[in-house]
Amino acid sequence: MFLQGENILKQYPHNGGFINALDKVSFNVDQGDFVTVTGPSGSGKSTLLLSLFGLIRLSSGTIIFNGKRIDNISDRHLTDIRKKSVGYILQSFALIPYLTTIQNVMIPLALERIPQKEQVKRATEILDYVGLSDRIEHLPRELSAGQQQRVAIARSIVHRPQIIMADEPTGNLDPTLSLEILEFLKKINRENKITIMMVTHSPVAADYGTMKLHLNEGKIVN
Ligand SMILES: Nc1ncnc2c1ncn2[C@@H]1O[C@H](COP(=O)(O)OP(=O)(O)O)[C@@H](O)[C@H]1O
Ligand SMILES: [Mg+2]
Repeated sequence: MFLQGENILKQYPHNGGFINALDKVSFNVDQGDFVTVTGPSGSGKSTLLLSLFGLIRLSSGTIIFNGKRIDNISDRHLTDIRKKSVGYILQSFALIPYLTTIQNVMIPLALERIPQKEQVKRATEILDYVGLSDRIEHLPRELSAGQQQRVAIARSIVHRPQIIMADEPTGNLDPTLSLEILEFLKKINRENKITIMMVTHSPVAADYGTMKLHLNEGKIVN
């Protein structure tokens, strides 16, 4: 089993009691799935995305990744798994404004202590793949919104993760650019067999899912 959640419960303190942001959620994701996570605002989508690889800790429940439990392991071990196997496209992990395109894309490789020369080689290859070869030395503010999102995608795949976690990756883009980014994610998913888990509000984006999770008040509904 690639990624499995069993009875995931995440409670936040609220008004002297608790809110169940995730209320006994269970699911199975296979390698190569394109998972879309939909649901109203406040239904637990971001909490789910952030909790699977330990950016948020669960209140209870089990998460199994590549056959091993990861909900009960150390922060250090989780950090290692994230650095090696997970790519994030999150609104709060935006591009670093004073780093160029290629420097932004090299960050995950630097974190893995890959030699500088190899970092440049791999970042250059991936920027070619996302069609930004001619924007390597640009700063984020010198790029269009769609180009910036492609840099973020390049950064999320440069270390060849097994899974990409994306929270509303098209949320700030117009419909044409959204389609471009969605097609791109599909291409990455198909060509590289990278599993994708994408939170989205948009029905058009949700159509890209080969496996669909719909949340309401912290529960999976059909
Ligand atoms: N850090 C937090 N502290 C307290 N409550 C939170 C926190 N983060 C999220 N919540 C609550 O948990 C629920 C789910 O939030 P979230 O996962 O962000 O939903 P979504 O991404 O679907 O909009 C909401 O009721 C939200 O208010
Ligand atoms: Mg959210």
